[in-house]
Formats: sequence, structure tokens, C-alpha cells
Amino acid sequence: MNFLSIADLDKKQLDSMLALAGEMKANRAKYSEALSNKTLAMVFEKSSTRTRVSFEAAMYQLGGHTINLEAATSQLSRGESIADTAAVLGRYVDAVMARVHSHDEIIALAKHAKVPVINGMSRLEHPCQALGDLLTLKENGKLKKGAKLSYFGDPGIHVANSLLAACAKSGINVTFASPAKYPSNAQYAKDAKKSITVTHEPDALVAAKGADIIYTTSWVDIGSEAESAERIKDFMPYQVNAKILSVAAKDAIVMHPLPARRGLEITSDVLDGKASAVIDQAENRLHVQKAILLTLLK
Ligand code: CP
Repeated sequence: MNFLSIADLDKKQLDSMLALAGEMKANRAKYSEALSNKTLAMVFEKSSTRTRVSFEAAMYQLGGHTINLEAATSQLSRGESIADTAAVLGRYVDAVMARVHSHDEIIALAKHAKVPVINGMSRLEHPCQALGDLLTLKENGKLKKGAKLSYFGDPGIHVANSLLAACAKSGINVTFASPAKYPSNAQYAKDAKKSITVTHEPDALVAAKGADIIYTTSWVDIGSEAESAERIKDFMPYQVNAKILSVAAKDAIVMHPLPARRGLEITSDVLDGKASAVIDQAENRLHVQKAILLTLLK
């Protein structure tokens, strides 16, 4: 089994994964030898803080090991194919986690590695982030049918795709607040609409009204730095700030997968404020990834 996409888990598996993550979070010592003698290779074609450290800490806390392979300092940078790299890694380690550019690369890794492969973020999806998001919603009593999540920023990126798919499995309605020139992924929106209401709202205040969850993320993804100035101008009206929060539900929580650019997509008062679940959200990456590793490697 691989974990490349939220679609790899049906509703029952998703619920079980969240339950296991919660149990592992509450009982760390019980799992301290669960993956002893297991090795995870971590391949990074792009930079990371949370994904790298949380996977490394997860394997350590489960009694296993990691090997970190930066694309820039491996033979990948000299043109060795993903297929050949995967085939060899699969002979050395028990699982591979990779942060790659195109989604085709993670699919190729899974095809050739012959060991479980985890998507640590591709251009299309960031499924580990979405699982951590769901655990955070669950802990805050927001993982319930009919809840309203309002997402501010580019709705067509990996984080939004995985979040939308995860919300669809959980019955959480999604409103995307963005300029019309930034659409959501048509396939993900079409699939989600079979289970939930998905709306696009160009007026940020209208989008925020009554929201149970206010979600934002970076406007400038790794690789789109050349469009930085244009994106900042386009998304500035969608900044998550005190005004946005003031029209949301009284007990609304604010989420951001990090890294944040304070003063752009979110203001410091909101990021550091009472409604913010952001640091818990980052911590929960560790716990859901332990559940993923245990499920794939046991
Ligand atoms: N949210 C997230 O994936 O963080 P990193 O890019 O630091 O891994």
C-alpha cells in the first residue's frame, strides 16, 4: 500500500487512521519499538522544515531510522531517473517518503520502489498535511458534517486539493475565496461536489461569514517565486486578518500549514491569537505520519 493521495483512503480507512493517530499521540511510549529495524528513505527535491523533521522524529519515536536524500546532493541532480533511484532504494529500505516536483514522479517512485511510498508533497497533493489538518479539526470539535471551511488563497494548489478531498470525505463544506483568475482544480472540485457543497466566493468577507474554520496558506509556492509580485497583489484582498475573523463563527479556528509569511496571507495578531490552531496543526503532522508509517509498515 502507498499513500500518494487522499483518494488512497476510503472513509473507513481515513477514520481509522485518525483514530490511530490520536491513540499514538496519547500513548507515545506504547509504540516506541513498533518500527524497530525499519528504515525510511526521505527524498527531497524541494525544501522543507516540518515534513523532514516530523518524519525523522516519527521514525525515531517508533524505534526506526531515516536516511535523508537531498536531490541536489544525490545522483538525481546528475540525471539519474526516478525509476532507477526508486528501484535501488527499494532494495535498501522499508519505505520511501518523497517531496517531488510533479505528481508523475511520486507515481513513478511508487511503481518502481516495490516498498510503500508516501507523498511528502507533489505539485498535485499534500495528503500528509490534509490528514494532520483533519486530526486538528477533530481535536477542536470541527470534524463534523455540515461544518463550513473557508479557504483564502490559491484554490488550485496541492494543499487545497488534498484539503478539499479530505473535507469531502468528512462532510465539511468548502468555500474558496480567491480572485476568479485562480480556479480550483476542476477534477478535485467535481469529485468533492458529489459529497459536499463547494463554492467560489470572490468577496473575502462574504466567504468568511459564519465560517467554522478559516484556512489560509502561502500565496507563493516553491517554484512560483517568479510570479511573487503579481500573486501578492492579487491575493492581498484575501488576507486573513482581524476583520475576516470578526465575521466568522464565534468559536472559529484559524489554520495554516506553514511556513507563513506574516503580514501577507495572515497577520501576526491572528496567527498568534486565541483562535489560531496553527502550531497544534503543525504538531499533528507528527502524529498522523506515525499512524501512516505504522499502517504501511506493520
Ligand atoms: N507544511 C509543510 O509541509 O511544511 P514544510 O514545507 O516545512 O515541510
